[in-house]
Amino acid sequence: MFQHVEFYPGDPILGLMEKYAQDPRSEKVNLGVGVYYDEDGRLPVLECVKTVEAAIAEEQRPRGYLPMEGLAGYRSACQKLLFGDNSQAVAEGRVATIEALGGSGALKVGADFIHQWFPQAKCYVSNPTWGNHISIFEGAGFEVGKYPYYDPATIGVKFEEMKAFFNTLNENDVVLLHPCCHNPTGVDLSCEQWDELLAIVKAKKLIPFMDIAYQGFGDDMESDAYAIRQAVAMGLTVFVSNSFSKNLSLYGERVGGLSVVCPTAEEAKLVLGQLKFTVRRIYSSPAAHGAYVVDSVMNDGELFAQWVGEVYEMRDRIRAMRQKLQDVLSAKVPGRDFSYFTKQRGMFSFTGLTPEQVARLQSEFAVYMVDNGRMCVAGLNSKNVDYVANAIAEVLK
Ligand code: LMR
Repeated sequence: MFQHVEFYPGDPILGLMEKYAQDPRSEKVNLGVGVYYDEDGRLPVLECVKTVEAAIAEEQRPRGYLPMEGLAGYRSACQKLLFGDNSQAVAEGRVATIEALGGSGALKVGADFIHQWFPQAKCYVSNPTWGNHISIFEGAGFEVGKYPYYDPATIGVKFEEMKAFFNTLNENDVVLLHPCCHNPTGVDLSCEQWDELLAIVKAKKLIPFMDIAYQGFGDDMESDAYAIRQAVAMGLTVFVSNSFSKNLSLYGERVGGLSVVCPTAEEAKLVLGQLKFTVRRIYSSPAAHGAYVVDSVMNDGELFAQWVGEVYEMRDRIRAMRQKLQDVLSAKVPGRDFSYFTKQRGMFSFTGLTPEQVARLQSEFAVYMVDNGRMCVAGLNSKNVDYVANAIAEVLK
């Protein structure tokens, strides 16, 4: 009966996690999945999360169904973080926000919605992008193309080519953008470049879909949201998927959100209704526990400030690891430029290592990174960074 079912070779990122877990070598290092590990190689539970979880446990809060669109305090927390405390669009009721099952869930609900109401639209993602962007949009029925982005020659963005490409697109085509900490390259647009690009998005009447999963890991909470806020200020209709997986270290709680900034409050109501319907027919309603945690942290002044401080500690530790890896490798492999480690931002570094070199790192040194050469710098710590640098130096020989 199932002989015609195609073999699934596994996900290039999540499959790597499974392989890593089964590796018996004690020296193994996980630089694959985009997860932040602390200096002791442990997945942290943030202090602000411990505080609110203790209170939730004490209260023995009943776990009824959340509404289809999620917890109200969670949704307003997403809006504040993404659009700023004094957002006019939010005040005017023009932003339809739902809680979603992680960033992936938000992308899926948004993709289904757009495909239903704009069936002719194509979707364009950066070359390269997070592989699941392509899977999610194709799964929703889109034809997915790639726009020029990463330039290995400059470790920057092929900005002229990118703009020229955007100018060839059709009205209502979707352009999937990373407002900060580009996954997988760690290479972002400058504010000036965003201004120019968004002007083209506006002139060509494209649909910008901004996926922000690493807010706070680039520069800071506010600067990392520049592209989103600028798009809204320019009057664009914009889709934003966000995630608290990384910045609250709540990966398994599936805490994401989808916001659609609409031209009018009336349209926002229509959009919210359809987003609820989309949720209802996929999974009915989102999860409660993570939403309670986010609501409690984000809507309490003191806990919010504590949380921001904790995110910046993670950001700074990643930066220190970038510097350390760059220094050690520069000493070990003279004549090769490793400055990209400190130029790139967020959790990832696009190392330029070939799939063969990545495979050698895994088989000979138990160092795991994604096939395309993406390294999650947050998996490094002062105990393993020399070991990893040595391993990289060996495969570069
Ligand atoms: C990643 O890029 O590694 C993360 O976003 C985790 C995932 O689901 O792929």
